[in-house]
Amino acid sequence: MKIAVGSDHGGFEFKQLIVEFLKEIGQVVVDVGCFSTDSVDYPDFADKVCESVRNTTCERGILICGTGIGMSIAANRHRDIRAALCHEAYTARMSREHNNANVLCLGGRVLGPEIALDIVGTWVETEFAGGRHQRRLDKLS
Ligand code: RB5
Repeated sequence: MKIAVGSDHGGFEFKQLIVEFLKEIGQVVVDVGCFSTDSVDYPDFADKVCESVRNTTCERGILICGTGIGMSIAANRHRDIRAALCHEAYTARMSREHNNANVLCLGGRVLGPEIALDIVGTWVETEFAGGRHQRRLDKLS
Protein backbone atom coordinates (compact mmCIF):
# COMPACT_ATOMS: atom_id res chain seq x y z
CA MET A 1 0.00 0.00 0.00
CA LYS A 2 1.15 3.55 -0.74
CA ILE A 3 0.98 5.78 2.33
CA ALA A 4 1.60 9.55 2.54
CA VAL A 5 3.29 10.60 5.77
CA GLY A 6 3.64 14.16 7.04
CA SER A 7 4.48 15.99 10.24
CA ASP A 8 5.27 19.35 11.70
CA HIS A 9 8.31 19.95 13.89
CA GLY A 10 6.50 18.46 16.92
CA GLY A 11 6.09 15.16 15.08
CA PHE A 12 9.29 15.16 13.03
CA GLU A 13 11.23 12.58 15.07
CA PHE A 14 8.28 10.19 15.15
CA LYS A 15 7.78 10.66 11.44
CA GLN A 16 11.31 9.47 10.78
CA LEU A 17 10.68 6.41 12.95
CA ILE A 18 7.33 5.69 11.32
CA VAL A 19 8.67 6.07 7.77
CA GLU A 20 11.38 3.48 8.50
CA PHE A 21 8.88 1.14 10.17
CA LEU A 22 6.45 1.34 7.25
CA LYS A 23 9.21 0.48 4.80
CA GLU A 24 10.29 -2.46 6.97
CA ILE A 25 6.77 -3.91 6.85
CA GLY A 26 6.65 -3.56 3.06
CA GLN A 27 4.67 -0.35 2.56
CA VAL A 28 5.49 2.31 -0.02
CA VAL A 29 5.97 5.69 1.65
CA VAL A 30 5.56 9.20 0.25
CA ASP A 31 7.22 11.50 2.80
CA VAL A 32 5.81 15.02 2.34
CA GLY A 33 7.91 16.58 5.15
CA CYS A 34 8.71 18.41 7.25
CA PHE A 35 12.37 17.54 7.02
CA SER A 36 13.84 19.07 10.20
CA THR A 37 12.83 20.27 13.66
CA ASP A 38 12.59 23.88 12.42
CA SER A 39 9.23 25.37 13.30
CA VAL A 40 6.55 24.96 10.59
CA ASP A 41 2.73 25.10 10.42
CA TYR A 42 0.89 21.78 10.71
CA PRO A 43 -1.99 22.70 8.31
CA ASP A 44 0.48 22.86 5.41
CA PHE A 45 1.46 19.22 5.90
CA ALA A 46 -2.09 18.07 6.61
CA ASP A 47 -3.05 19.63 3.27
CA LYS A 48 -0.29 17.77 1.39
CA VAL A 49 -1.17 14.38 2.88
CA CYS A 50 -4.93 14.82 2.50
CA GLU A 51 -4.62 15.99 -1.09
CA SER A 52 -2.55 12.95 -2.00
CA VAL A 53 -5.22 10.67 -0.47
CA ARG A 54 -8.07 12.56 -2.15
CA ASN A 55 -6.43 12.43 -5.57
CA THR A 56 -5.61 8.72 -5.03
CA THR A 57 -1.82 9.15 -5.31
CA CYS A 58 -1.82 7.44 -1.92
CA GLU A 59 -4.36 5.04 -0.45
CA ARG A 60 -3.96 6.35 3.11
CA GLY A 61 -2.13 9.02 5.10
CA ILE A 62 -0.44 9.40 8.47
CA LEU A 63 0.01 12.81 10.16
CA ILE A 64 2.02 13.56 13.29
CA CYS A 65 2.20 16.81 15.26
CA GLY A 66 2.91 17.47 18.95
CA THR A 67 -0.48 16.31 20.21
CA GLY A 68 -2.10 15.03 17.02
CA ILE A 69 -4.96 17.46 17.63
CA GLY A 70 -3.99 20.16 15.13
CA MET A 71 -3.39 17.59 12.40
CA SER A 72 -6.71 15.92 13.12
CA ILE A 73 -8.64 19.21 13.01
CA ALA A 74 -6.89 20.23 9.79
CA ALA A 75 -7.31 16.85 8.08
CA ASN A 76 -11.02 16.52 8.87
CA ARG A 77 -11.73 19.81 7.07
CA HIS A 78 -10.98 18.01 3.79
CA ARG A 79 -13.91 16.39 1.98
CA ASP A 80 -13.78 12.57 1.99
CA ILE A 81 -11.03 12.52 4.60
CA ARG A 82 -11.84 10.56 7.73
CA ALA A 83 -8.97 11.27 10.11
CA ALA A 84 -8.67 9.43 13.42
CA LEU A 85 -6.54 10.66 16.32
CA CYS A 86 -5.43 7.51 18.14
CA HIS A 87 -3.54 6.94 21.38
CA GLU A 88 -3.55 3.14 21.45
CA ALA A 89 -4.06 0.17 19.15
CA TYR A 90 -7.71 -0.56 20.03
CA THR A 91 -9.02 2.77 18.72
CA ALA A 92 -6.67 2.48 15.75
CA ARG A 93 -8.21 -0.89 14.86
CA MET A 94 -11.77 0.38 15.35
CA SER A 95 -11.05 3.50 13.29
CA ARG A 96 -10.40 1.15 10.36
CA GLU A 97 -13.07 -1.50 11.01
CA HIS A 98 -15.94 0.89 11.80
CA ASN A 99 -14.94 4.30 10.40
CA ASN A 100 -12.79 3.36 7.41
CA ALA A 101 -10.36 6.06 8.55
CA ASN A 102 -8.11 6.98 5.67
CA VAL A 103 -5.83 9.23 7.73
CA LEU A 104 -4.24 8.37 11.08
CA CYS A 105 -3.16 11.21 13.38
CA LEU A 106 -0.64 10.78 16.18
CA GLY A 107 0.85 12.98 18.89
CA GLY A 108 4.62 12.84 18.88
CA ARG A 109 4.83 14.47 22.32
CA VAL A 110 2.29 12.22 24.01
CA LEU A 111 3.21 8.71 22.82
CA GLY A 112 6.20 6.47 23.38
CA PRO A 113 7.82 4.97 20.29
CA GLU A 114 6.64 1.39 20.97
CA ILE A 115 3.02 2.50 21.38
CA ALA A 116 3.24 4.65 18.24
CA LEU A 117 4.52 1.77 16.12
CA ASP A 118 1.93 -0.59 17.62
CA ILE A 119 -0.78 1.88 16.57
CA VAL A 120 0.66 2.29 13.08
CA GLY A 121 1.10 -1.46 12.49
CA THR A 122 -2.45 -2.20 13.65
CA TRP A 123 -3.96 0.61 11.62
CA VAL A 124 -2.14 -0.36 8.42
CA GLU A 125 -3.15 -4.02 8.70
CA THR A 126 -6.82 -3.58 9.61
CA GLU A 127 -9.50 -3.57 6.89
CA PHE A 128 -12.87 -1.79 6.89
CA ALA A 129 -15.71 -4.08 7.97
CA GLY A 130 -18.30 -2.48 5.62
CA GLY A 131 -22.00 -3.44 6.04
CA ARG A 132 -23.85 -1.25 8.54
CA HIS A 133 -20.73 0.88 8.92
CA GLN A 134 -20.83 1.84 5.24
CA ARG A 135 -24.43 3.02 5.68
CA ARG A 136 -23.27 5.28 8.50
CA LEU A 137 -20.38 6.65 6.48
CA ASP A 138 -22.77 7.39 3.61
CA LYS A 139 -24.62 9.72 5.98
CA LEU A 140 -21.46 11.77 6.44
CA SER A 141 -21.06 12.63 2.77
C1 RB5 B 1 3.51 22.90 17.72
O1 RB5 B 1 4.18 23.46 18.79
C2 RB5 B 1 2.22 22.23 18.20
O2 RB5 B 1 1.28 23.21 18.50
C3 RB5 B 1 1.70 21.29 17.16
O3 RB5 B 1 2.67 20.30 16.91
C4 RB5 B 1 0.45 20.52 17.48
O4 RB5 B 1 0.55 19.88 18.71
C5 RB5 B 1 -0.81 21.24 17.33
O5 RB5 B 1 -1.91 20.69 17.52
